[in-house]
Amino acid sequence: MALDSKTNSLEEFWLPFTDNRGFKKDPRLITEARGVYMTDHKGGTVIDGSSGLFCSPAGHCHPKIIEAVHRAMQDLTFVSPFGTAHPLSFALAEEVARLTPEGLNHVFFVNSGSEAIDTALKIIMAYWTARGQNRRHFVSREKAYHGVNIGGVSLSGLVNNRRAFPVTMPGIVHMRHTWTEDEINVPGQRAGGADRAEDLQRAIDNFGAETIAACFVEPVAGSTGTLPPPRGYLQRLREICDANGILLVFDEVITGFGRVGGVFAADAFGVTPDVMTMAKALTNGSMPMGAVAVRDDIYEVITDKAVMGGIELFHGYTYSGHPGACAAGLASLAIYRGEGLFDRAAEMAPYFAECVHDLGTHPLVKDVRSIGMMAGVELHPGEKPGLRGVAAQTALFWNGCHIKFTGDTAILAPMFVSERHHIDEIVGKLRDTIEAIPH
Ligand SMILES: Cc1ncc(COP(=O)(O)O)c(C=O)c1O
Repeated sequence: MALDSKTNSLEEFWLPFTDNRGFKKDPRLITEARGVYMTDHKGGTVIDGSSGLFCSPAGHCHPKIIEAVHRAMQDLTFVSPFGTAHPLSFALAEEVARLTPEGLNHVFFVNSGSEAIDTALKIIMAYWTARGQNRRHFVSREKAYHGVNIGGVSLSGLVNNRRAFPVTMPGIVHMRHTWTEDEINVPGQRAGGADRAEDLQRAIDNFGAETIAACFVEPVAGSTGTLPPPRGYLQRLREICDANGILLVFDEVITGFGRVGGVFAADAFGVTPDVMTMAKALTNGSMPMGAVAVRDDIYEVITDKAVMGGIELFHGYTYSGHPGACAAGLASLAIYRGEGLFDRAAEMAPYFAECVHDLGTHPLVKDVRSIGMMAGVELHPGEKPGLRGVAAQTALFWNGCHIKFTGDTAILAPMFVSERHHIDEIVGKLRDTIEAIPH
């Protein structure tokens, strides 16, 4: 797949979350990819240190996914999901429900993580409405990333994602984020979780439990740079939610499907939410798809409240449960199971942590955090926060490695098919790039 940069000015395409002016002077295009490697438009080889965007644990262009999508789309390229359906959507929902924690057996399909979050917000509003309760507050957290639709931006705790968008949902209350300077460059969970979770109790004391619909958290804050939950944090949130009848939502868009141990972070940390969002690895990144899994009684309350014979939830997308995406989802889950990829990730995680924490002694590195197969390497900011990260990401790419940066933090999320030498290559290239930064 080639790009003719003589005939294409590159002007028309507006890239998301990108320094467009810089990119168009120095474009970085991927023209092919297989397994853990990609090819850039100059013919260079680039190792993928972030599974694309935390999407592809089974590697790029997995032949079984291509084959499954191809086969499915010979029968169906589209089915209206409003009032009709096709067999693959039921099959995938059943597979997802088999993997989610006990009791979360109803699955609503969407096309992205952002849509999963806004869908979860609306399902929860519909639930409380059906129960006749006026719960108008949602609790979220600083440094949270819940996608880019208006609900998700409202919940968001990343200032750059909110600054230009002054009109968001009312009624959002933010807890403190969980990062402190007390423990630096330490793998896994750190101390102090129960204390931070008391912020939810403070919101309850301030607004009244009867006004709070739900508490949304990423079990491991991902896009802000891998913040594992401090010990006891998720457990305490669960206790407070239970004591006050508040729904707990885990946004597992990054953490789902083996990224942090267990199938979901809920399994890894032994805490079951009431609602769970997922996307990305659901199809190994091969087709756009997300999902919301809800506790059975949430589905039943909403469904039972509606007039018999009428629509129960006035929500959905034209492409909810698209046949191609369902085929990709089914094939991906079969690959994860067949190739034992979640176990493989869990086995590789200690080696990955060892390599990545070795970077923590470099004077430009402020902190290194890791859990499972994800890590954040946070650099001290340069002249302006974020600029060092953009420059490092570009330099790293031309050094043959793709890693996603947020601000000045490199977020590593190797594919589960990575071997030790791939981890060495990714971390080695990141080290070379950091060492080349003038300081
Ligand atoms: C936790 C979390 N929620 C939601 C999203 C949004 O997903 P998408 O980019 O598919 O809309 C992301 C994306 O990175 C995410 O990390």
